[in-house]
Amino acid sequence: MKIGVLTGGGDCPGLNAVIRAIVRVSLKLGHETVGFRNGWKGLLENHSMPLGREEVRGILHRGGTILGTSRTNPYRVEEGEQKLLQTLESNGIDALIPIGGEDTLGVAVKLANAGVKLVGVPKTIDNDLMGTDFTFGFDTAVNIAMEAIDRLHTTAESHNRVIVVEVMGRHAGWITWYAGIAGGGDAILVPEHPFSVEEVCARIKRRHDKGNNFSIVVVSEGSKVATDSARDEDGSYVLSSMKKDAFGHVMLGGVSKVLAEEIEDRLGYEARHTVLGHVQRGGSPSAFDRVLGTRFGVRAAELADEGRFGRMVAVQGNAIVDVDINNISGGIKELDQALYKVAEYFLD
Ligand code: F6P
Repeated sequence: MKIGVLTGGGDCPGLNAVIRAIVRVSLKLGHETVGFRNGWKGLLENHSMPLGREEVRGILHRGGTILGTSRTNPYRVEEGEQKLLQTLESNGIDALIPIGGEDTLGVAVKLANAGVKLVGVPKTIDNDLMGTDFTFGFDTAVNIAMEAIDRLHTTAESHNRVIVVEVMGRHAGWITWYAGIAGGGDAILVPEHPFSVEEVCARIKRRHDKGNNFSIVVVSEGSKVATDSARDEDGSYVLSSMKKDAFGHVMLGGVSKVLAEEIEDRLGYEARHTVLGHVQRGGSPSAFDRVLGTRFGVRAAELADEGRFGRMVAVQGNAIVDVDINNISGGIKELDQALYKVAEYFLD
């Protein structure tokens, strides 16, 4: 069997561990593997690369993806699906393993329904995919954000400042919550719980009235924030731009700047903001992500070998399982309410 592999969407630490595992296991099981470059773009343009033992040597610890990635949406391209099917046929691909998040696997669902034999591997630092307890890349992102929060503590304390740190995660608060708890954030603001500027200021004031001279506010890029007077039922996003990507997602960012300015104006405490941005996605994967990526890759190759298509590998508890790939269309996995409650105990 000839197995095609591609990585789509935002890059993510651990992708190379998955690719390596797919290739190593496929070879052991007597199959050939080929890589498509830059996500679905590679299939649209018939841009492939050999993917054998040599190509995956020494990549386990490397961040990013040796295959390249993009947010290309083939269903926004004229005759996109037909072009993908032609590339698969002309390359003699029997099975496809797309590694991606909501958007990349959303395309995979459509292709599976069009008859393509595929097995999906879930990927995102945001950890917001349905059907799996964790995605690889998340642990690395959390550790990077936690280290940043540790560093911001010492400078905030030295200057008697409030520092608002903006964390990735789109519309889910997983990275923010984990990094905020691990880093001891004084306020942890996630999209699942809209908040008002007044509430945040009151919380910080209470803390400073108790004798603290600094505060760290950890806020998700997708947080909903409004002033009490402007607050609708849902709050509203603070965005620095209204630009959208190929899958129609608004590019988030800007909440920390607005919040820091409001805090300084309303409370008179000196405030700064820091946007962690793509630093959270770069560099070497953690041990956890290398192991999870490897386990996902192994199981994906095994499923292809067993002829079990239309599935997505996942981790539930500590077991690697597979679920119907259509699960991906069920909306995002929001931050657990029970976890949110834990944070409440540590608020002033
Ligand atoms: O989904 C991963 C993610 O890093 C989000 O946390 C973030 O909002 C988005 O991708 C950024 O996308 P881009 O790399 O296209 O700027």
